[in-house]
Amino acid sequence: MGKPKVYITRALPEEVVEPYRNELDIEMWPEAEEAVDRELLIEKVRQSDGLVTMLSESIDEALLKEAESLKIVANLAVGYDNIDLKSTQEHGVAVTNTPDVLSDTTADLTFSLLTATARRIVEADTYIKEGKWQHWSPLLLAGHDIHHKTIGIVGMGRIGETVAKRATGFEMDILYHNRSRNRKAEEELGAVYVDFDDLLRRSDFVVCLTPLTEETHRLFDKQAFAMMKDDAIFINASRGAVVDEKALEHAIKEGEIAAAGLDVFENEPISKDHPLLQLPQVVCLPHIGSASKETRYAMMRLCLDNICRHFRGETLISPVQ
Ligand code: GLV
Ligand code: GLV
Repeated sequence: MGKPKVYITRALPEEVVEPYRNELDIEMWPEAEEAVDRELLIEKVRQSDGLVTMLSESIDEALLKEAESLKIVANLAVGYDNIDLKSTQEHGVAVTNTPDVLSDTTADLTFSLLTATARRIVEADTYIKEGKWQHWSPLLLAGHDIHHKTIGIVGMGRIGETVAKRATGFEMDILYHNRSRNRKAEEELGAVYVDFDDLLRRSDFVVCLTPLTEETHRLFDKQAFAMMKDDAIFINASRGAVVDEKALEHAIKEGEIAAAGLDVFENEPISKDHPLLQLPQVVCLPHIGSASKETRYAMMRLCLDNICRHFRGETLISPVQ
């Protein structure tokens, strides 16, 4: 038998991929920044035994029914809402993701976004670069404190826990809401489980880290924002579709909440005309939660390790199903 044929839907650094070429027959979409063309992907999938996919590819029934020899999809992300798990299961295709290796990096970014939003870091940088710094004044760019405030984490998985750990350094009170209780976070970090509404009412920072599922789709809607404190800050580092973006825009414009920090949007990439980008109280990032070079390399290797293990008949490191 020849080497398993693996298609990678984005150009990854050759220094990462090269060592795997002994074992796998690897081909890559040549662009690093642009998503693979759907028609071409379908063509490639017809001849592939394994795929490494990005969030930007929809792995759905239409694609899977072309994928006669496909055995495994390794998604370069912890989230896998871009994959139709019912279809992969029906077609007998294994799916893996990249948990754990990105938790610290994503928690760092989430907390940076929180501090940047609360302390108006981006506005302050723009202010000085635009030559507006003519005077010192007592309330110039005055923001919100972080220390000793209450953080409410929605989605207490590994990343949530790691954000909570950072919050302890700021002496914050930690509330959380999750499908199941996280005893480790309760015992080790003093996180307190509360119901969703209670979390919204009591938190100064509402931090969304929940995966996108049918239950969490537009979880943060008009009612949710109305329930938050007037000076609450909303942070989203999970998936854009967990939020009703129009409701968020309304809540900020009407002063129902103070500000938001967003690493994710419903339809990515967004253009510079997106209404949320027009609000000075909103800090926006282009979905870079896990984007450190070390972590992205680790994620790439984890995808390729999972694929190698699959074809060797070994247990997968991070199976989704
Ligand atoms: C990024 O959003 C991920 O799911 O890893
Ligand atoms: C989810 O899987 C997480 O790591 O938070």
